[in-house]
Amino acid sequence: MKSIFFYLLLITLFFSQGCEKKQVVDIYESEEYKTLTQKDINSGEAIWAIACFRCHMYGTNGAVLLDEKTYWDEAASKGIDKLFESVWEGIQGENGVMPAKGFCNLCSEDEIRKSVFYIFHLAKKVQASNEQKASS
Ligand code: HEC
Repeated sequence: MKSIFFYLLLITLFFSQGCEKKQVVDIYESEEYKTLTQKDINSGEAIWAIACFRCHMYGTNGAVLLDEKTYWDEAASKGIDKLFESVWEGIQGENGVMPAKGFCNLCSEDEIRKSVFYIFHLAKKVQASNEQKASS
């Protein structure tokens, strides 16, 4: 009898862990985003400057400007895993093609991941400065 409960417990644990993994956390709500160090931000910025900047700064090639709050907040809600995958492998968006790794073929997974965090960090900064401008 005891062993049945033991197996039930194991099964419950197994399924609850499976669900936890799939839970999507908005990038802005994630522990990883909230605990980014200055060093992480700097590494993300370095990749931004060599790869992401050329499309995302001015909305070139269909990239959406960082001040489009609705677009970026909606993207943020997909969570880091999905976003990393889109950037690492590339995606066809509504407005254009996001190329795999933003053409930074020598970038490591860690560098691309940091650049994704950086782009969302920068989007918040751009949006905040626009709000300030609008209210002054
Ligand atoms: C050649 C231009 C180009 C470059 C370079 C580029 N992007 Fe993009 N990016 C795009 C386009 C186009 C889209 C899709 C826009 C749309 O939604 O239609 C996009 C979308 C995205 C998204 C949103 C994905 C989603 O699922 O909503 C993220 C995040 C992103 N890019 C990050 C980056 C990062 C980080 C880099 C640098 C490593 C980078 N991009 C480099 C053009 C570019």
